[in-house]
Parts: sequence; C-alpha cells; structure tokens
Amino acid sequence: MSERGSANNLNLNSKENDDGREKKEVRVWCDGCYDMVHFGHANSLRQAKALGDTLIVGVHTDEEITLHKGPPVFTQEERYKMVRGIKWVDEVIEGAPYVTTLETLDEYDCDFCVHGDDLTTTADGIDTYHLVKTANRYQEVKRTAGVSTTDLVGRMLLLTKNHFHQGSKEYSIEKEGSSNMGQDSTAKSPWTGCSQFLPTTQKIIQFSDGKSPKPNDRIVYVAGAFDLFHVGHLDFLEKAKQHGDYIIVGLHTDPVVNEYKGSNYPIMNLHERVLSVLACKYVNEVVIGAPYCVTEDLIDHFSVNVVCHGQTPIALENGIMDPYAIPKTKGIFMLIDSENTMTTEKIVERIISHRLDFERRNEKKEKKEVEAYEAYQKSKLAQKAG
Ligand code: CTP
Ligand code: C5P
Repeated sequence: MSERGSANNLNLNSKENDDGREKKEVRVWCDGCYDMVHFGHANSLRQAKALGDTLIVGVHTDEEITLHKGPPVFTQEERYKMVRGIKWVDEVIEGAPYVTTLETLDEYDCDFCVHGDDLTTTADGIDTYHLVKTANRYQEVKRTAGVSTTDLVGRMLLLTKNHFHQGSKEYSIEKEGSSNMGQDSTAKSPWTGCSQFLPTTQKIIQFSDGKSPKPNDRIVYVAGAFDLFHVGHLDFLEKAKQHGDYIIVGLHTDPVVNEYKGSNYPIMNLHERVLSVLACKYVNEVVIGAPYCVTEDLIDHFSVNVVCHGQTPIALENGIMDPYAIPKTKGIFMLIDSENTMTTEKIVERIISHRLDFERRNEKKEKKEVEAYEAYQKSKLAQKAG
C-alpha cells in the first residue's frame, strides 16, 4: 500500500465532494520537541507529508519540554528554524501545546495528526495523543529504528567510535548498550532503546528529490563534514543557495573527517549524514564521500559554477595543500558568512556541560517508556485471557 493510501481509514469528514472529483486539500498536523533534529524526525515528517497535501508542524517551547521531558539541547528558536529547514514541512507553528487538542487541529484547519509509533506522555504519564486518538483524528507512521537524540548524546558522552564501523559486530554490541548511555540500568525501552539503523538505497531514494539540474542552472558546490546537521549548516546552505539554483553537497568520509577533527568525530557516520543533509530544503544533491580537495574532475563532472565555504577554518590536506586551491585558481571560489557561530563541537560542549541533566532526562524517558510498554503488554494479556 502506498504511504498516501494508508490515510484512508481516517475520518476525513467532507473532504471530498459528492461526485468525488474536487478534493479538498488534506492538511496534516505533526508536533513534537524536534530537539537535535535528525533524519528520524525528518523521516517521520516525510511519511506524514505523504498522507496529505500540506504539512503543518507544531513545535513545543523550551518551557513545555523542560516540564514534561527535561531540558532540551537546543533553544526553541533553533528548533523552530531547523524544522522550517526540512523539505517536507510547509508551515511551522511555534509553541504548540504538549498535549495535542482537537482545538489545535481545528485552529490550523488540519484533518488529522500524525506521530511515530512510539509512546509520548506528559510529566503525569498521560498519552499526549489521547484526545486525537479518541476522535479518530490520529495516524501512526513507523518510527525510524536506530536513531534517537538519546543515542547521539550517548556517542558524545562516551566518546565511542564504533558508529564508524557500521555493520561490524562491535557496532551491534555498542548499540545494544547505547540507549542507557553506559548506565547500569537493565530496563530497555522498545522505542528509544534502539536497534541498529540500517541504511538502504530505498531510504536515499525517499529522501532525494531525484532531479537533475536544468540546462541553465547555476551549480553551487560545497563540501564538509556536516556532522550533527545544525542551524549553522542550515544558515550556510541558505546563503549558498543565493549564489545559484542547484546545490551539491560533498560529504567527506568518516576517516577523512576523523583525520581533521580528531577524537570520535564525526558523531554521525557517513550514511547518517547523507540523510540529514538530503532532508534540508536547500540541498539538491549529495556526493557520498567527496574528495577532500576539490578537483578539476569534480568541477567538470558536475559543471560547477561556484564553490563556497563558510567562515570556519579550512584544514590543509597533509598540512600543506589548500583543498580549495583549484577553484581559487579558476576564480570560482567564494567565502560566505552564515552569520551563525554554531558548530558541531559547540553542540558536544553543550551536552557535556549539561551531562547530568541529559543523563537524568534520558533515564526518565526510558523508564516511562518501559513502564508504559509493560502496562500495554499486561493489558493485551488480560484481553486475551478474558
Ligand atoms: N521520530 C521518529 N523516529 C525517530 C525519532 C523520532 O519517527 N527515530 C518521530 C517521533 O515518533 C515523533 C517525531 O519524530 O513523531 C517528533 O519526535 P520528538 O517529539 O522530537 O521526540 P522523540 O521521539 O523523543 O525523538 P528522540 O527520541 O530522537 O529525542
Ligand atoms: O564544519 P563543517 O565541515 O560541517 O562545515 C560545512 C560548511 O558549513 C563549511 O563551509 C562551513 O564553513 C560552513 N559553516 C558555516 N557556519 C557555521 C557552521 C558551518 O558557514 N556556523
């Protein structure tokens, strides 16, 4: 069944005329924290958009998240901007209520609400979607396994490197223990106590717009790590887009990024970074493992008109070679200012400086999910027995 088709069991009221020809636009509502936006969030929004025509996304305030879940890593302004940058999102509603109400859906003329198939509860353990579920204005999409804020925070705090070795035995062992960030807890949530993320070509196809540049398009090429895709990257790409029509992002491989960043960088491996970048509305194409130095071949192959870099330092290859030497010689290199000082390292610093808060938040979230899951299993057993 197509993703679009699965909305048919919903109560869409009079969204169609009697003759069935003129369909009213189907407006879909999603809401959430969208803290440290990753491709799991983007994938849920992609699936939600496929269920209708217009996607409206409500994002909670810092105050609401702190109350119900614990302190967010990113400020509300940063989170609003990140969600606006996702290509399937048509509109962002700032400060959406934590519990989704029918009044909210009606206010924004939304037919139904979409959420991943995990459980979200308030500080008092109430399902945040109980009202829309009861009114049959709720639809579930599959949560993307193997990616969560909890897991990414775990990689930062424990300085693990196994995410570079996707598919290896060591990586599976790390993932099994990663959801509780190395704590002694044996409780595992079936939702955020996550299994491995399995990158597939299908996922890349779903995230990609599959369009080649038009004959007269001006091609912009940018390269980098784009690790933990953040507001700085988003502002940079928005500025880069002003210099052309079609943006190609060259992503450096994990060993290359590790060579110039050290420690356990990149925090997200190449497969994960590809999807995060592809979800950005300014990006048209991604090179999966770009050469560190921008070569003549690459410029010719993609008919690149301009190569851009932001204000962050440019590491020389082997301490000697400027990676932008060739575009500079050709007069097609441009330094641009994103006017945003966010970096991947700053995100890691934020996490480390709030380590205890995040550990508490993640333990609390997992515990709540385990309790809810056990209660659900019990009620299923009772139903069977009765
Ligand atoms: N989501 C998803 N796949 C993931 C993570 C999140 O589909 N791996 C979906 C959630 O199900 C929800 C939306 O993204 O529909 C917004 O989630 P959010 O409120 O930000 O919180 P979390 O689910 O807690 O995300 P995370 O565990 O990564 O913090
Ligand atoms: O550091 P990274 O390789 O991820 O950066 C990718 C691109 O984004 C680089 O051109 C960098 O200068 C740019 N950038 C920016 N502003 C930021 C962060 C990154 O312009 N705050």
